[in-house]
Amino acid sequence: MNVLLIGSGGREHALAWKLAASPLLTKLYAAPGNPGIAADAECVALDVSDHAAIAAFCADKAIDLVVVGPEAPLVTGLADDLRATGIRVFGPSKAAAQLEGSKGFTKDLCARFGIPTAAYGRFTDAEAARRYVRAQGAPVVVKADGLAAGKGVTVAVTVDEALAAVDACFDGAFGSAGAEVVVEEFLEGEEASFFCLCDGQTALPFGTAQDHKRVGDGDTGPNTGGMGAYSPAPVMTPEIVARTMREIIEPTMKGMSEMGMPFSGVLFAGLMVADGAPKLIEYNVRFGDPECQVLMMRLKDDILVLLKAAADGQLSHMSARWRAEAALTVVMAARGYPGKVERGSVIRGVDQAPPDGVEVFHAGTARQDGELVASGGRVLNVTATGATVAAARDRAYAAVDRIDWPGGFCRRDIGWRAIEREQAPG
Ligand code: AMP
Ligand code: GLY
Repeated sequence: MNVLLIGSGGREHALAWKLAASPLLTKLYAAPGNPGIAADAECVALDVSDHAAIAAFCADKAIDLVVVGPEAPLVTGLADDLRATGIRVFGPSKAAAQLEGSKGFTKDLCARFGIPTAAYGRFTDAEAARRYVRAQGAPVVVKADGLAAGKGVTVAVTVDEALAAVDACFDGAFGSAGAEVVVEEFLEGEEASFFCLCDGQTALPFGTAQDHKRVGDGDTGPNTGGMGAYSPAPVMTPEIVARTMREIIEPTMKGMSEMGMPFSGVLFAGLMVADGAPKLIEYNVRFGDPECQVLMMRLKDDILVLLKAAADGQLSHMSARWRAEAALTVVMAARGYPGKVERGSVIRGVDQAPPDGVEVFHAGTARQDGELVASGGRVLNVTATGATVAAARDRAYAAVDRIDWPGGFCRRDIGWRAIEREQAPG
């Protein structure tokens, strides 16, 4: 099969690495890709927002499957536009991508189909949102409705902070994404990420993970896209996975079908688990980044077979098998991240072959005059497997320490929560 992978981050490098291992693969292209992906795919400089150009490329290269990595092209209907020309796509339609593209859409779906989630209100009027915030009291969570590159959520500890977040949304801090605001109940518990591959009807459980959203050790400092992750997530016991399927995922699949927008692609549920019960925090309609990196390291099966089956509506015949080992990834970011970062600092020591059980995925790199340089905030994902999360962590940090990059930094405590559990007596 000829495959076109859309995207350029660490998530897409992990997908490219796993796709490249498939015996079914004839040729892999990536648009736009990155220097790490270039080891596994031919990178092509297509403009991902130009859907007609992508369709023309697919026709020209006889592409059998397009795999869409990031959410933005899904929310603007790339999958629909490609399918309209007869191209097979892994990824949801524009209508189904509202599960990530509109927080209010997902909250209404939960209300209608009885899916456990935080109590909420949806507002297009600032005064009404402020009234609701005052009535709820703090802590309370304020969210811009639309895509805000992970920055549209304020977990407010005080009413004043929540009111300021409401005003920021309506004053345009997140552009059109903030024209509508969701205010919701603060949930306590432990967060986990749960993934399913979906084909419109069937949802196939596809692994669990936990990420570290804060930039600093001890989970302190500003929120980021994720500074590291590990899989599996110990909090996601078989019982909680079963409950999540029954109470959250299956009603979502059924509800989306009933509403005429069956979901296919990756359904990524952000969960809060408390007292053995999962509640939905939010949906994403793509793999997590960096969660995908740890999932791909653990997946035993052929990812291409699975993604094609999802695109063809054939998942009910499939299963996914995982290595018993844990996997852990450490994000190396450019100094300054998640604020303003300096681009162009030289990275050495990445091109040598990594030790056994380690992969270094590229997230924000470029080649400049023959040198590998940083070209984004999150730059490398040093990913390792191990018999335990602690063993995977030790391997990952040993590999981090072989990388010579004075312009970068990473957290030193990725996995701490799972490792504490592993090391707890009894
Ligand atoms: P989101 O972008 O929706 O994933 O939100 C970012 C982060 O905010 C989540 O990963 C949670 O840590 C936190 N968060 C979002 N909604 C809630 C909620 N209702 N209660 C507690 N924390 C939340
Ligand atoms: N790491 C969280 C996300 O991909 O949304």
